[in-house]
Amino acid sequence: MVAADFVVVANRLPVDRVEGPDGEVGWRTSPGGLVAALEPMMRNVNGAWVGWAGQADTEMEPFENGGINLIPVPLSASEVAEYYEGFANDTIWPLYHDVIAPPQYHREWWDAYETVNRRFAEAAVAAVAQDGTVWVHDYQLQLVPQMVRELRPDVTIGYFHHIPFPAHGLYAQLPWRDQVLRGLLGADVIGFQRAQDATYFLTAVRRRLRYEVKGAHVTVLEADGSTRTAVARAFPISIDTAPYIELAQREDVKARAAEIRASLGNPARILLGVDRLDYTKGIRHRIKAYGELLAEGRLKVEDVTLVQVASPSRERVDAYVHLRDEIELAVSRINGDTDTMGHTAIRYLHQGYPREEMVALYLAADVMLVTALRDGMNLVAKEYVATRADNRGVLVLSEFTGAADELRQAVRVNPHDIEGVKDAIMTAVEMSPSEQSRRMRSLRRRVLDNDVDAWSSSFLKALAEVHPR
Ligand code: G6P
Repeated sequence: MVAADFVVVANRLPVDRVEGPDGEVGWRTSPGGLVAALEPMMRNVNGAWVGWAGQADTEMEPFENGGINLIPVPLSASEVAEYYEGFANDTIWPLYHDVIAPPQYHREWWDAYETVNRRFAEAAVAAVAQDGTVWVHDYQLQLVPQMVRELRPDVTIGYFHHIPFPAHGLYAQLPWRDQVLRGLLGADVIGFQRAQDATYFLTAVRRRLRYEVKGAHVTVLEADGSTRTAVARAFPISIDTAPYIELAQREDVKARAAEIRASLGNPARILLGVDRLDYTKGIRHRIKAYGELLAEGRLKVEDVTLVQVASPSRERVDAYVHLRDEIELAVSRINGDTDTMGHTAIRYLHQGYPREEMVALYLAADVMLVTALRDGMNLVAKEYVATRADNRGVLVLSEFTGAADELRQAVRVNPHDIEGVKDAIMTAVEMSPSEQSRRMRSLRRRVLDNDVDAWSSSFLKALAEVHPR
């Protein structure tokens, strides 16, 4: 493969390798917002994407998929357990999401994290052309920027952090806090979702490493005594709006939305939640609030249905196993107490769906509930808004999401405040069409004017400014 001028490095490739029952190999779009956001940008540049294909112990040659050059990085079964399920998803993920679940600190996991980060850095370095650009993504690969710089000082390095960065009081728990900061500071530009994330990061840099910080600029002290400047600031990520707008206009998708409504018994209001099944998403809080509204008679099962899509995620990590049990118990209790033969309170779907079906669901939903306890951005909120061309529908949005900084006309909630969530649901269910339209118009303007192209352009522009060629 020829050296690429532009290399993306992310834990996952945009597609996962899946094996059918007879061993036949197929490809499936990878889960989560990161891939959804990056894929459109990569189609437009002549670059390469370094990542894991989602399966342990599988060695694969580089290949092309959907017009993107993919360079697979292999992980052994023990590395999947220690680097991915362990350090990434049972240490960093809960710590960076404000310790909603207790982070586990294990030295062997850290060792595996370092080993695997080095493998990703070496794969990126092998792929990138002289004076090229490497763009590293997310919390699984925080050491890669520094490792790439050590191997290849000619390369321009960007890093984007898709999840929150915690306040210093929490970050300070991490036994490897200084190593992680130095790893990130290998980048020329370190991007965050919210201004608050960048501020927390810069505070940690000042307090832990004692580097000089002026505004967004950090004076990084290298091992040889030289200094250079790194920039850390917010670049709120977004979605590729065009496919959502197009799908929402398609007659077959509209017909599917009507079919979904009919199959639920044409309730007066459909509420929708769409999340990976993750403890950060506030699914339990949402269900609790909704269940109480039904129990108190403020909502009637004949009039409303909550459709909750909870796509399977990280199913071998204990916290996720417990969460699934809790949610499924809560859903079946509420349904058992309130369902009639013709109406269900909650239609719960532990499945992932293609984009067409998601857009049909967005069109069918009168109210979208995004009640995350902490979320880097939350692209589902932006997807819902993008599909609502008729300016109908209400977005209920947690103030602890990155999206809340931008989507000011949503009905805002503190998901910990169950009474507040109940009131927000009632406000959304009862909102007049004119008020819906006033709010949705402004939300749509924001999302359509700030799409994923605007996001990647502004990041790459900042990178070019720090590291001019
Ligand atoms: C979030 C993270 C991504 C991650 C995705 C799916 O969006 O920011 O880095 O890829 O969740 O999680 P998974 O563990 O399946 O990759």
